[in-house]
Amino acid sequence: MANQEDNFKKVISHAKEYGYVFQSSEIYDGLSAVYDYGHNGVELKKNIREYWWKAMVQLNENIVGIDAAIFMHPTTWKASGHVDAFNDPLIDNKDSKKRYRADVLIEDYVGKIDTKIEKEVKKAEKRFGDNFNKQKFIETNPRVVEYIEQGKSILSRMAKSLEKEDLADVKALIEELDIACPMSGSKNWTDVKQFNLMFGTKLGASAENAMDLYLRPETAQGIFVNFLNVQKAGRMKIPFGIAQTGKAFRNEIVARQFIFRMREFEQMEMQFFIQPGTQQEWYEHWKENRMKWHLSLGLGEENYRFHDHEKLAHYADAAADIEFRFPFGFKELEGIHSRTDFDLGSHEKYSGKKLQYFDHETNRNYVPYVLETSIGLDRMFLAVFSNSLQEEELENGTSRTVLKLPAVLAPTKAAILPLVKKDGLPEVAHEILEDLKWDFNVTYDEKDAVGRRYRRQDANGTPFCITVDHQTLEDQTVTIRYRDSMEQERVAIADLKSIIHKAVDMRTWLLKMEDQRA
Ligand code: GAP
Repeated sequence: MANQEDNFKKVISHAKEYGYVFQSSEIYDGLSAVYDYGHNGVELKKNIREYWWKAMVQLNENIVGIDAAIFMHPTTWKASGHVDAFNDPLIDNKDSKKRYRADVLIEDYVGKIDTKIEKEVKKAEKRFGDNFNKQKFIETNPRVVEYIEQGKSILSRMAKSLEKEDLADVKALIEELDIACPMSGSKNWTDVKQFNLMFGTKLGASAENAMDLYLRPETAQGIFVNFLNVQKAGRMKIPFGIAQTGKAFRNEIVARQFIFRMREFEQMEMQFFIQPGTQQEWYEHWKENRMKWHLSLGLGEENYRFHDHEKLAHYADAAADIEFRFPFGFKELEGIHSRTDFDLGSHEKYSGKKLQYFDHETNRNYVPYVLETSIGLDRMFLAVFSNSLQEEELENGTSRTVLKLPAVLAPTKAAILPLVKKDGLPEVAHEILEDLKWDFNVTYDEKDAVGRRYRRQDANGTPFCITVDHQTLEDQTVTIRYRDSMEQERVAIADLKSIIHKAVDMRTWLLKMEDQRA
């Protein structure tokens, strides 16, 4: 546990030191759960967004993008169910005065049971070596079976109580499990209450005439209200999808864990409109497709898992999360939701406008069903960043900090380094930079000894360092150093573009989706 915490602290301090993520308004002591992205962070975030957009929009003929406004007519949120049902159950500790999400306290308790299971598996793996059958062990080991049953029964009771709005039972469960306040250890809890997560604001110049608005808590509704506009203007035929990326806002109760849970964050969402009755098939399709997208980045298959929802949101008939192993354990990274005709049907009702599709083949009108994929861009950033940050022991007894970002996402693709600051080497290095900058984000660095510059670029996550030395002046070659292997190679300046291109090209990376088993 202490180790996990230390690792997470390292992630946060590295993000700050290398210009990835800063606390918002830091000079005023910060604003809780709001963050700014620095010069490297903005590039990494843009690259993740583009990697998603390429896969979801540009490579799918039947998916188009939009960019809807953050402000929407307030009735939108009545129709979507957010005014009445977008609540979190909160509980306060009377001694520490700390506020928690009751469901998160319970889920964290179950998370600890999961850690115990992992420990049992690791122990057995060591004991049985090559003969170890993990699946069989999990299914038959009495202790593990008991842990699994225990976790399931806790989560199922919580889901049922929340479903029935039986908040007294949620509190009873916390007390029965003997859950203590993580800050103080106290078990002196208040009752559980519901808390709406939307931020309100006002539109209009004078207080009397101002209209109450909400900052959107999800980007999805901007897609639903534009369903007919896009379908008609784009001449889209079902099945088809509408995607968008953009800011969303939630007044989160428990806003800890850095950029994992923020009050202002960015989502990348896609709503796929389908014929009623085909939702199961599309649900499976998008679960598999999205998992393959994640696996294409090579962060390690063992770091992902599906989690089927027991407690369904007010709009869904099936839902699963893709969970990722963050520095603080497995947590939700992306959601895949079968939203039925809840949203379009409800907007029809509240707006009085028909939101239907005419199917020429069957000659009938219907309100389409919707399959949604929804991922937090900041959460994806944290997944990639934390997984990539590594401390490596080297053969010569030293160590290095390296940010092994997938090359396709790395903010800077190459650093051009003159070996010394004289003899015409900086000029040649600048010529290379001037040429490469049209194709890639590249940087120039001449300060300090070259070894230190390599280390600096390792920590920045730059996949290639290109060093210009005296031989360059004679034969137009440079050394290229690879971040991950630290190997160096002599190559012609003329070949640099194609070497870098091969390593960072989205086509190469996204084609890996075809090789993945979800
Ligand atoms: N339209 C469906 C929807 O918004 P959600 O599960 O509430 O579903 C989708 O959110 C994704 O948005 C999550 O899987 C997560 O990646 C991201 N997300 C949600 N709340 C967040 C927060 N407070 N901070 C950062 N990311 C968040």
